[in-house]
Amino acid sequence: MRMVDLITKKRDHKALTNEELTWMIEQYTAKAIPDYQMSAFLMAVYFNGMTPEERSHFAFAMLHSGDVLDLSDIPGIKVDKHSTGGVGDKISIPLAPLVACLGVPVPMISGRGLGHTGGTLDKLESIPGFNVAESETQFKQQVQQINEAIISASGEVAPADRRIYALRDVTGTVESIPLIAGSIMSKKLASGTNALVFDVKVGNGAFMKTTEDARALAKALVGISKTAGVKSVALLTDMSQPLGITIGNSLEIAESIAILKNRGPKDVHDLTVALAAQMLVLGGKAASLEIASGLAEDALRDGRALNAFKQLITAQGGDASVVDDSRKLPQAKYRIAVKAAESGIVDQIDTNALGLAAMQLGGGRAKKDDILDLAVGLVLHKKLGTPVTKGDTLVTLHADTENVDAISNMVRNAYHIGDKAPKKTPLIQEVIR
Ligand code: URA
Repeated sequence: MRMVDLITKKRDHKALTNEELTWMIEQYTAKAIPDYQMSAFLMAVYFNGMTPEERSHFAFAMLHSGDVLDLSDIPGIKVDKHSTGGVGDKISIPLAPLVACLGVPVPMISGRGLGHTGGTLDKLESIPGFNVAESETQFKQQVQQINEAIISASGEVAPADRRIYALRDVTGTVESIPLIAGSIMSKKLASGTNALVFDVKVGNGAFMKTTEDARALAKALVGISKTAGVKSVALLTDMSQPLGITIGNSLEIAESIAILKNRGPKDVHDLTVALAAQMLVLGGKAASLEIASGLAEDALRDGRALNAFKQLITAQGGDASVVDDSRKLPQAKYRIAVKAAESGIVDQIDTNALGLAAMQLGGGRAKKDDILDLAVGLVLHKKLGTPVTKGDTLVTLHADTENVDAISNMVRNAYHIGDKAPKKTPLIQEVIR
């Protein structure tokens, strides 16, 4: 086979076979195909797309370029959740203990934040002592013992995707649904889970800005899962404003604890319960979403989910007393109010800009090896549709320096204040199976 023939085939709108895609990924991983040829192929996919069969073959080829976990010795249907990334998205943190305490094993392999979005692993590391770097054996033992673990990938997961993603980043080929779906699935399937719930974010703080794109990505993710024999469902959920009221690592842990005490913000609560219900049904613990939601609400009310979070923290070496005293989480030195410059109603929030503001305070990474300040972030006092009077505090910055004028302005400018409430977008817009 010759790479030039595969590039030409895709350029001419023809579908590649499993054999061709597998060969291409193997050769690229072995560095026998140069980056310039892979770049040309990626651009051809960007313009001409892939058939559903090609998408699956492409994802599986990248999956098998690295290590794949075998969780078959853990009894039960193992279920994981994947979010395509948003601002203030801390859902995995209350979700894993909630689902685990209801009898479904949740083996979560999570990521770190990059750019305007945060990462579950960084958030968990704001709990003193919490270790996300468990070995495969520890990970499996922990899931067997307490039904839950949240760790970073050990070993080499989908190395072909890592190199192709870096190439896409510099060749204008990131925004391609088959390439995004293949990239996500090559990593997600490596965790050896039996079922997956996808939270596909849509809106100005998400990768997918329109419902059409989000729906297409959701269908691609569900389609690849089906071919892999993994049960799945995808929810399209709103990211036209941050989730909840906090952005920043330790602030989001405190908010997650509030959710587990059944008193956090409604949007975070509702999305946690909705995703938990899907996971419980896929995990065979409830016959309907209605029954599953009831089980989840009960476990939040009676403290079982909170207790499961304490178990998770202890099992991973962390200090579980943060649950009773959130002052034990890293605290920023300064609280700086960002005030409204005019009166009216919040009718638009530039969610991306708020994520970037948290990053610029030191809470997120501009580059992969940046060191984070886990204490800093934003607490939002106003969300979409809220009336404001000039001088009201829109956001409190938690900062470790007083020199934050530029970030304050960025946050103020991220709020658009108009004269009428915006049209309400539902938190859960669609469910795709
Ligand atoms: N997340 C991924 O893992 N890959 C993409 O291509 C986009 C988002």
